[in-house]
Amino acid sequence: MPLVAASDTSIADAGRVIREGGLVAFPTETVYGLGADATNGEAVAAIFAAKGRPSFNPLIVHVPDLAAAEALGVFSDEARALAVQFWPGPLTLVVKRRAGCPVADLATAGLDTVALRVPDHPVAQQVLRAAEVPLAAPSANRSGHVSPTLARHVDEDLGDRVAMILDGGATVHGVESTVVDASGDGLALLRPGSVTADDIARVLGHPIARGAAVAAAPVSPGQLASHYAPKARLRLDAAAARDGEALLAFGRAAPSTGFVINLSPSGDLAEAAAQLFAALRAFDAAESREVAVMPIPETGLGVAINDRLRRAAAPRP
Ligand code: TXA
Ligand code: MG
Repeated sequence: MPLVAASDTSIADAGRVIREGGLVAFPTETVYGLGADATNGEAVAAIFAAKGRPSFNPLIVHVPDLAAAEALGVFSDEARALAVQFWPGPLTLVVKRRAGCPVADLATAGLDTVALRVPDHPVAQQVLRAAEVPLAAPSANRSGHVSPTLARHVDEDLGDRVAMILDGGATVHGVESTVVDASGDGLALLRPGSVTADDIARVLGHPIARGAAVAAAPVSPGQLASHYAPKARLRLDAAAARDGEALLAFGRAAPSTGFVINLSPSGDLAEAAAQLFAALRAFDAAESREVAVMPIPETGLGVAINDRLRRAAAPRP
């Protein structure tokens, strides 16, 4: 049984589990989060696998305080004003990644921005300090289920898929944090939450615009703008590269002449997920125009990998 009462001992254990790449569910003031080391791509892949998510959307990265957040992202004056007013608390700020930001590409879906949040819950705070790494943590439920406000809900959904569930009682807010995009020129409200547009307007001294959230689904070329999309044209389900094509390979059988990136020579889907966005970027860096993509099995994390590849291969406007 992974369900344990939150205590100094269990939280110290949780910190160790996280540093070793494991998954720990923990309470925040909004909902229970499914946490993993945000700097470890394979640990982040394990979050998607446990949730059974059919696609990779960018995750919120949790840190203990503003100083830790500023080490990962670049804050404008307005972003900092909101952080000072509402952190710790149920507000997430999307900011530009700082150069050298160690957060895994998979956690930010390959974007040059990162969503940061400082939770206001004693257990979440202690877990962050015990782990000593930023934590990627979406709500701790299976994909398509409602967000958990009790440790028991997490256990019902994910009990067989996580190393630990820290029980810290019922969460206070029950809805996920407000998400504000502060990465561009003006601020935009991406997801409403218990920090309201009026609360934010009072701090800024002007109203905040409503922006479009980065949706996980459906597949539409119009949404590519908000996800990282490579310049190269992708040819999916390719047995091998043709003349002039680079190759995105998967598994041992992959041919290895020409420019080849193998997502996982051993055919491990978690490793492939962790490498995916860096691979797409590497084709851009090499100015590849055409990329043949070997088939990825449509099981487990392969479903999300294929979803992302299909989006990346979709015709652009
Ligand atoms: O209350 C919460 O925020 C909970 C608890 C566990 O802290 N966490 C949570 O995390 O809801 P998550 O990862 O499921 O939230 C993802 C939301 C999505 O709406 C996503 O589009 C947005 O954050 N998001 C994350 N990174 C983004 C980015 N770089 N740009 C735009 N939106 C982003
Ligand atoms: Mg959720």
